[in-house]
Amino acid sequence: MFKVSICTAIATSLFFLLFSSPPKLSYHSLYISSSLSDNASISHHLYTLTRRPHIAGSKANADAAAYVLSTLSSYAVRSHIVSYDVALTYPVSRSLTLIRPTPEPSTTFDLRQEIYDGDPYADVASEVVPTFHAYAKSGTVAGPVVYVNYGRVEDYEVLKEMGVSVEGTVVLARYGKIFRGDIVQNAFAAGAIGAVVYTDRKDYGGGGGDARWFPDDKWMPPSGVQVGSVLTVDGDPTTPGWASTRDECERLSEEEVENGGGVGMIPSLPISAADGEAIMRTIGGQVANDDWQGSTDAPVYRVGPGPAILNLSYTGEQKITTIQNVFGVIEGTEEPDRFVLLGNHRDAWTFGAVDPNSGTATLLEVAQRLRKLQKRGWRPRRTIVLCNWDAEEYGLTGSTEWVEENREMLASKAIAYLNVDSAVSGAGFYASATPQLDELLKQATQQVQDPDNSSQSIYESWVGSSNSPIIGRLGGGGSDFAAFVQHVGIPATEISFGAGYPVYHSMYDDFIWMKNFGDPNFHRHAAVASIWGLVALRLADEEFLPFDYLSYAYELQVCILS
Ligand SMILES: *[C@@H]1O[C@H](CO)[C@@H](O)[C@H](O)[C@H]1NC(C)=O
Ligand SMILES: *[C@@H]1O[C@H](CO)[C@@H](O)[C@H](O)[C@H]1NC(C)=O
Ligand SMILES: *[C@@H]1O[C@H](CO)[C@@H](O)[C@H](O)[C@H]1NC(C)=O
Repeated sequence: MFKVSICTAIATSLFFLLFSSPPKLSYHSLYISSSLSDNASISHHLYTLTRRPHIAGSKANADAAAYVLSTLSSYAVRSHIVSYDVALTYPVSRSLTLIRPTPEPSTTFDLRQEIYDGDPYADVASEVVPTFHAYAKSGTVAGPVVYVNYGRVEDYEVLKEMGVSVEGTVVLARYGKIFRGDIVQNAFAAGAIGAVVYTDRKDYGGGGGDARWFPDDKWMPPSGVQVGSVLTVDGDPTTPGWASTRDECERLSEEEVENGGGVGMIPSLPISAADGEAIMRTIGGQVANDDWQGSTDAPVYRVGPGPAILNLSYTGEQKITTIQNVFGVIEGTEEPDRFVLLGNHRDAWTFGAVDPNSGTATLLEVAQRLRKLQKRGWRPRRTIVLCNWDAEEYGLTGSTEWVEENREMLASKAIAYLNVDSAVSGAGFYASATPQLDELLKQATQQVQDPDNSSQSIYESWVGSSNSPIIGRLGGGGSDFAAFVQHVGIPATEISFGAGYPVYHSMYDDFIWMKNFGDPNFHRHAAVASIWGLVALRLADEEFLPFDYLSYAYELQVCILS
């Protein structure tokens, strides 16, 4: 694929050294210089993209696609939209009642996230989707409640050792250690008939009794709920392995999908810290282990079963819905049929200021800086493709369908896929990569200044006091790189500032949260744009692809020996 004779290579390099002016390298330093970065437009893009909730399939998210398209076009990036018709689910009705032993009264929870005094988004709060689990099973179940900690396989083993059976019960699990689809799947496997998942104050609420929460602090308010998908397969579950093209493609029936097991197999609901704690107070039985307990001022957690009964009812609706992937293309001059892809998703469960539009605003910043380079004469050697995916939240759907439609093309033309999901949720640089890109990431972070400490590079703060930085791997999926790594097998990265944030997937993930707690001056966004774009520029411009296979060999050895 990359056959270039040594002589041609040397001759071409010499040619560039002598005649191309300024050399690519100086464009790359210009790209990361503060003169090109523009925190005001990053802030403006984020504000505009998050003015309204924009769940996949909504009019608001189609409007957001139009905004991305027109912004890319305004930066002279050739842009277009590719749509798919995919099976998404939306909530129709939900109810949750806690039935205490007589004569205690029952409680029916209102399942609403509260707006606060002065909330600038109060006018559009009714557009926020009711709290639900996408692809949860519809149905009504009632059973004694059992507390299952984080709902991991090992948590069920602990319960078994305690002699507690979850057969026929409704489990109360807390979010935080594993994917919510696996929480529901593990509950089903253990024999539960329903699952309720809450955000414990210990993990999301700032812990102690005098904790403050959003908008006064970064923590999740007591009524905040983490919405999300429980799909455990990638892409549209009605078109496994093929693309959901708009021309009436073949589909599995809902029954066939359910038999496949990738969707929720029992009814489930996400709930708030306040509701989770109210349920917890009614659970009797043995006291749970220390590491199963809540924050210091929380009630003592017991495992049950019962005596209280949880009655959970959920009805969802599957709809074939049109989604929009937006693409911007900057064509390469010498190898136009070699692609360096940068991707981020646009759809959000609510306002999406962190997840994912901090990434979208950063993608637009990359486009703007590349435009500034072009005005100074830069042209990429290879083609750069900017991708803005839809329906990632449902199951990496927009990216997966596109990869399914273009697998052969990508296998022969794609050089690398560089993902940014949430660009910024706080301080500290985090990266994951396939190993041949480790070195490139290290080099890029050595060139970019730490946005939180101008006397060091991002690399220095990333490494801290250890010898080398921690680079995660991409095997577990979790964002739009999955289809590129798993279906096409190309090198990929995922980068961010901050790893996790308390208001994740709740109604409080809005611009105010970002402005007050995530990135007050938008310098972390600008830093992500610098690293993301610099890695892309080196992959797009260097004659010899800057892959490092020593790291790959080492990683393979570790895998084989462990
Ligand atoms: C559970 O709730 C549903 C829906 O609100 C209701 O129809 C049903 O009677 C309740 N079941 C029990 C056992 O309370
Ligand atoms: C900023 O970086 C310098 C150089 O690495 C270091 O000595 C200093 O402690 C850092 N300051 C903070 C506040 O972390
Ligand atoms: C951009 O950065 C400058 C310098 O730190 C700061 O004064 C300004 O408020 C920032 N702009 C935004 C929109 O955050």
